Parts: sequence; structure tokens; C-alpha cells
Amino acid sequence: MADTYVGAIDQGTTGTRFMVFDHSGQVVANAYEKHEQIYPEPGWVEHDPTEIWENTESVVTDGLADAGLEASQLAAIGITNQRETTVVWDADSGRPVHNALVWQDRRTTDRVEELQDEDKVEWIREKTGLEADAYFSATKTEWILDNAEPLKLQSSRGDDLRDRAEAGELLMGTIDSWLIYNLTGNHITDVSNASRTMLYDIRELEWDDELLDEFGVPESMVPEVRPSSDESYYGYTDPDGFLGAEVPVAGALGDQQAAMFGQTCFDEGDAKNTYGTGSFYLMNTGTDAVESDHGLLTTIGFQLSGEPVQYALEGSIFVTGAAIEWLEDVDLINNAAQTAELARSVDSTDGVYMVPAFTGLGAPHWDGRARGTIVGMTRGTRKEHVVRATLESIAYQTRDVAEAMEADSGVETTTLRVDGGAVKNDFLCQLQSDIIQTEIARPEVDETTALGSAYAAGLAVGYWDTVDELRENWQVDREFTPEREAEEVDAMYDRWGDAIERSLDWATE
Ligand code: G3P
Repeated sequence: MADTYVGAIDQGTTGTRFMVFDHSGQVVANAYEKHEQIYPEPGWVEHDPTEIWENTESVVTDGLADAGLEASQLAAIGITNQRETTVVWDADSGRPVHNALVWQDRRTTDRVEELQDEDKVEWIREKTGLEADAYFSATKTEWILDNAEPLKLQSSRGDDLRDRAEAGELLMGTIDSWLIYNLTGNHITDVSNASRTMLYDIRELEWDDELLDEFGVPESMVPEVRPSSDESYYGYTDPDGFLGAEVPVAGALGDQQAAMFGQTCFDEGDAKNTYGTGSFYLMNTGTDAVESDHGLLTTIGFQLSGEPVQYALEGSIFVTGAAIEWLEDVDLINNAAQTAELARSVDSTDGVYMVPAFTGLGAPHWDGRARGTIVGMTRGTRKEHVVRATLESIAYQTRDVAEAMEADSGVETTTLRVDGGAVKNDFLCQLQSDIIQTEIARPEVDETTALGSAYAAGLAVGYWDTVDELRENWQVDREFTPEREAEEVDAMYDRWGDAIERSLDWATE
């Protein structure tokens, strides 16, 4: 019999990746495609769910073909995804009724402020572990049902969307659900993704009736919630479909939880930070849903079949890698790799601080009206200083959440595992280690997000037997230890706090 592998679909904010892993967790196939970012108005961000599905079909097909693999060699497929991004689709035709509202989309900020005015913040936090924010799926679903006017014609019936939702004709889900639905025909999500909707009670482990009611989401719309690694499988791919084989789809995790799983952060106190569009610092808190007093989220980390849910504390930083993309957009750099060289060419930022609050600030500040700010410029400021300040902003924002994490959990992180595109940048890794005064460990397989979802699916089908087997696959590529004095770094960090103050509450709409 030909060798078998596990496939992982990693549907992220900027693109879709398909990877195939062997038993030792090594990559044997990798294909990637970007999709369009749609910005209909300032602060609004949409994706076309149909494009996302078509890209998924093509990266899976191309990834297998490039590696000379047959779909029948896949023991299972796992899914990982940009979280919170919300799709509403017609249960009959499977067609979306509107573009997906992306996690970065701020159009429901007014609605969140209404919740704040009505003193519903604590009520929401107690049930969901989340800070009431436009980031999550609840207000996005509500918005689509109330406002998706121009696209109503797409629906076969043309009725009011709210009526259609009440009649059980519409389904909603995060991107994992959208992909599982298209792959298997079943409407399912996993606990980690459900915990990002602001509609799910993370302790009772069920959709919360009062929250569904608050946001006008009929229960018939939401997916069935399953473990992240599910021995009863979410379903099978259609042998007559694009893949031409019946493969179990057996694991799903939100991408940040998947990275935590791929980094083998299985024990209480284990922490990782992923540097993608934004950065997401998660610490496993075991079977305890630890409440945050310092602006972090309490979220579901993962659940294995037949086992209790493992929770995590999360510091969600909305813009880190996207700040580097912005440098490219405004022609300060030609490519991301250039940032290290430019930043190294100056000794410091010369007093410049850059706060990339392009879509408001997430943890620990939670200010939807914060906006990007550059302060401290003089006539002598050069682009190298701005580039260096942008890299430093990534490290400072991480320190903001690292401090909150320590205060909430009482656990001092001695080694932080890092992953994501930006950690290829040695300058950034060293800077990060200096700014948080903690050892940084970069693993050999840096695509830990895809790896984590492959692990979840592989465990479900018995491709791997236990998580201990997975721990053995984790290999360090390089460690970075602090090279600068705490005193020097603390002084720089103090000024960062001042720069943050200046970015807060800026937007008027
Ligand atoms: O919560 C948003 C996060 O899941 C997005 O991750 O890697 O697609 O930017 P990424």
C-alpha cells in the first residue's frame, strides 16, 4: 500500500494554503493562493466566500499534484482558519447571501458601543470569555441579516433575510464551517471556533439562547459544535467531487489555536505567539477557564474526542505583519525581507514610535476607535527609523500582552514559542527577545498552524496515537536570548505607552 499522510487546509486572512504532512510532522506538499481583500468603505473588510472555496479546491488539487500524491493517500484532512470571519449562506443552494465580514471589519463598532452603554459587557464576558467587540461573529451576523440589502437579489426567493433566517432557510458559520459544509455537506464547527462567535457559552459548552436572542440569530442558523479532533468525523469528502476520493474530515481548529496545538503547547502554562497579519499570543490554562483582569480573552484552546475542553488566555493583537505590508504599500520598502536590513542600518528609531492601530486596538486596550499613529518625528527622521519603529511596534505590542498574561495567569513564561511568516526575520526575533526579556524558541517547522490542524485530524483517525508522539516531532530551529539590559528596554517601553495614549479614541466614525 502507498504511504499515507495527513492533509491540512489553512484558510487565512490573506490566502489559502494546503499542506500535507508525514508521520514525523515533516512537510511533503505545500500550495498557496491569495484571495482578494475587499474594502467597500473605510474600516470595512470583506472576502468573497465563493472565491475562498474555489481557491481551496485549487490549492488542494495543485498541492497533491505537485507532490505526486493521490487523494486516496490522505488518511484524513484537518481544517484551520482565520477566526471570527462570518459567512451567511442559503441552506438550499449553498450560495452565500453576502460577502464574508472579515474579523478586521469595524462596521459594527456602533452596535458594540450600544452594548457598552447598556452595561452588557460583563454579561457577555461571563458567558463567552470575550471582550464585547466588533471583532467577533455575533454583531457581524446581525449586520448581514439586517443590512445585506444589495445582495438580496442573489437569493432565489428575494425575501427579507431576517424572515428567511427565522424560517430556517439560512445558515451561518465561521470559515471552518463554510469549508466543512462545502467538503462534506454537513453544518459543523469545532469548539475553538465556536468560542470566537460571542454567541457560545464557553463553560456550558452550548450556544447561548440569550446571546442568540440579543443578536437576532435563530438557533437553526448556527452549526453543530464538535471536538477539535473528532473520532466520529465531521464527514467525508465526496468521491464524485473535486478530490475524487472519500477522505475523512476529522479535525478543525481556529488558526491561533491550531498554532498552539502545532507548537505542542499541550500543558498548562505553555505559550506561543504567532506573527501573521496580526499576532496572537496564547497560553494554555488547562481545564480552567481563567478570567482576565488585564484585557485578555478567555477562549477555548482545543478539545480532543472524549476529553475535557482545554482553555487558553489570549492576547489578540490586530496589526503586526499587516504593518509591514503597509510599509510596502506606501513604498517605504520593496519587500518584507528588506525591513531587517533597513532597521539594522540605524542604531535606534531616533525617538520615533509607530502605533499600527489601523483597525483599532485589540488586547489589552480594546479601543475600536484607535487609529494608526507615528509620533516623535523630526526633520532628521529617515525611512529607516520608521521601518525600525514598525518592527519595534510588533515587539512592544507583544510585551503589552505578555505582561497582561503574566498578571492574569501568575505564570512567568520562560520560553515563548514563536511562529508565523515574520519569524523568519532574525532581527525581529532578537528584538522580541530583548523587548520582553524572555527566551524565544523558533521551531523547525514554522507552518505550525497547518501542522496543528493536521495533528487534530490525524489523532482522530488514529494516524497518531497520542499527543506524546507529537511532542517528539517538535524540533527547535533557533533560540534567541535577551542581549540588551532590562533597564534600557524598560525606558523604551515606557515611551511606547505614551505613544499608545496618543492613538486612542481617534476615529469619529
Ligand atoms: O482572529 C483572527 C486570526 O485568526 C487571523 O489569523 O493568520 O489569518 O491573520 P491570520
